[in-house]
Amino acid sequence: MLGKQGRQWKSMCKGLVLGTLLTSCMILLYCLSAPQVQIDVPEVPVPYSCAHRPARARARALPVSNGSQNAAGQAGTCAPKVDVMFMKTHKTASSTFINILFRFGEKHRLKFAFPDSRNDFFYPSPFQRSQVKDYRPGMCFNIICNHMRFSEAEVAKLLPADTAYVTILRDPAELFESSFHYFGRLAPFTWKIPGEDKLAEFLQDPARYFDPEGYNSFYLRNLLFFDFGYDNNLEPADPRVEDSIRAIERRFQLVMLVEHFEESLILLKDALCWEMDDLLFFKLNARKGSTVSKLTPELKARALEWNGVDWRLYQHFNATFWRKVEAYGRERMARDVEELRRRNEEMAAVCIEGGRAVEAGSIQETAMQPWQPIGEKSIMGYNLKKNVDKRHRKLCRKMLMPELQYLTELGVNLWITKLWGRVRDIINW
Ligand SMILES: *[C@@H]1O[C@H](CO)[C@@H](O)[C@H](O)[C@H]1NC(C)=O
Ligand SMILES: *[C@@H]1O[C@H](CO)[C@@H](O)[C@H](O)[C@H]1NC(C)=O
Repeated sequence: MLGKQGRQWKSMCKGLVLGTLLTSCMILLYCLSAPQVQIDVPEVPVPYSCAHRPARARARALPVSNGSQNAAGQAGTCAPKVDVMFMKTHKTASSTFINILFRFGEKHRLKFAFPDSRNDFFYPSPFQRSQVKDYRPGMCFNIICNHMRFSEAEVAKLLPADTAYVTILRDPAELFESSFHYFGRLAPFTWKIPGEDKLAEFLQDPARYFDPEGYNSFYLRNLLFFDFGYDNNLEPADPRVEDSIRAIERRFQLVMLVEHFEESLILLKDALCWEMDDLLFFKLNARKGSTVSKLTPELKARALEWNGVDWRLYQHFNATFWRKVEAYGRERMARDVEELRRRNEEMAAVCIEGGRAVEAGSIQETAMQPWQPIGEKSIMGYNLKKNVDKRHRKLCRKMLMPELQYLTELGVNLWITKLWGRVRDIINW
């Protein structure tokens, strides 16, 4: 029997939990809103390369060849590039790519520049190297790949000069749809959009609802351009747009496309002298039913117009992408993509229960639960097969592991992110 005393205890406990929660929320809010302390970091030069065995200077000095980006690669003499900056853009399959990077980093015992206490570099504030966990000037890092708002100068001061810069883009209309779904509720101006289909309503007349100064509004216009550190409210014809695209082109060795993910990986392998084994992946963080576009042709056209700057960015790098594929060789590319797909399928048969992704409710292990957008459980995940043979067990686990769990395993303390998750669990948001 619980009785009166029991009930009193219960309400006291509830009070305590609520109190703790509120305090936590306050701390959280404080952390999110407090301006980043500008630490005046002294300048200590980072070594030219942070590879354990730096690639020989000769290999680096080779001119970019026509047929293949990595001339040494063809002769089979190149060393895999281990200093990598991955500019993780939003809603661009980047969780899948980051899983590839994590495994590559572990395989070569590389040092990641991770954020501290959360899974991004205080996005949307511009990146500062002081945000890197355990940062000390002059230190060697190989890989940086968490969400940030890019700052070319600041990243250059953190990473060795031989770093390969890589990023990924996605059709801006699809990206906008995804971002609207995932982040829409975080931008208060969307709350007043009437109707069931807020996206369609918004695109009818964006200017009516959109507030460029509004909190989190950057999620809903030219998000790619914003992620690269530029002004997302420019007009597409503004000369600054063209200049920024050129700057990205100068800095990034490879700009991948979500729509051609396998081709992108093959280009990466070629540019960075990696192996096919390094490219194996399962699609992580995919949304239920995301294989079909939710946009009608009309909405798609409106979304592209609304995200006109990102559309220019995408078209530019779509063109450079296909030039690279051309240079690589169309047939060679088709063969390599075929091989990668086959190997991924083989891995899926080995690792995944049922062979495919399932809804959150059907995922048995918490360790395999992906992070969900606010108010939904639309992100799919996987169940690891029970009796995977010993040879594959570790690899399967890592390939299937959602980003936050993997980050924790790599030693990142995610207390802010996790606390936020708990709060959401409790208030059932
Ligand atoms: C690149 O390759 C094509 C065809 O293989 C050739 O016609 C062209 O001259 C080459 N360009 C350079 C810069 O080597
Ligand atoms: C991307 O480039 C290819 C090859 O030039 C072209 O066929 C395709 O229409 C382009 N796509 C976009 C979205 O611009």
